[in-house]
Amino acid sequence: MSVLRGGSVVGRVVRFVYFRIVAPLRRALWQTILSSAGGRLDHGAMLYEGTRIVQGHPGSIRIGKDLRMLRNATINTLPPSGQIVIGDGVHIGEGTMITAHSRVEIEDDAVIGPYNVIVDVDHVCEDRSRPIAKQGLDSRPIRIGRGAWISSHCVILKGVTIGRGAVLGAGTIVTHDVPDYAISVGAPARTIRIWGNDEAASPSPATAPGDDTRPSPPSAAQ
Ligand SMILES: CC(C)(COP(=O)(O)OP(=O)(O)OC[C@H]1O[C@@H](n2cnc3c(N)ncnc32)[C@H](O)[C@@H]1OP(=O)(O)O)[C@@H](O)C(=O)NCCC(=O)NCCS
Repeated sequence: MSVLRGGSVVGRVVRFVYFRIVAPLRRALWQTILSSAGGRLDHGAMLYEGTRIVQGHPGSIRIGKDLRMLRNATINTLPPSGQIVIGDGVHIGEGTMITAHSRVEIEDDAVIGPYNVIVDVDHVCEDRSRPIAKQGLDSRPIRIGRGAWISSHCVILKGVTIGRGAVLGAGTIVTHDVPDYAISVGAPARTIRIWGNDEAASPSPATAPGDDTRPSPPSAAQ
């Protein structure tokens, strides 16, 4: 809404009403809806118009502090066991859709830009005598590391881990893991470079055991 950005008196009044009344009411509504069914939406969330948080079964969505969810973004869990876990300070851009049949985890401070699709499930296509829609689903968890930036119009497919601080360029289709701090582009994604300097990087709590390619410190026995 452009009036939300305007500097006129009308703009200021509209902004006041929107941010001080409408937005807190919308947040309170979603907090009530989620928590009444065992989910969680922590304080500080800013949810713009048209956002949807669809908890497909009780307790399947947990969201940390200060979520920012722009217009028409959707997060959605599918029964019987889809889970979405979102850390603190996460931004989800306009029109982005996140769907979990298994589990989608988005760690703190990740930025998911506009019109991305993050979906951890495929239809099974094996038996030609039956419609694809009746052949079941095949899902594997997705994890998006702390501080990653998923820019715009990307697709992240099942079983993928996006590393801490990793960047996906516009229109990237991700079918394999992306390392920490990699900038990856294209379809399928290829890494064009690693950004920043190693010295500034602290050990990632997000890095799974066995994923860490940095040299191990010497053991006490050496
Ligand atoms: C990924 C990105 C950040 C890289 O920026 P950069 O480091 O300045 O990269 P460069 O422009 O130097 O490009 C490096 C190479 O990658 C290619 N490339 C860059 N972005 C690409 C993309 N999205 N898809 C395919 N190739 C891409 C370039 O063509 C170039 O290839 P070349 O060396 O063969 O010419 C940027 O290109 C991008 O996609 N930004 C996303 C913008 C956006 O969607 N913003 C939404 C706001 S949340």
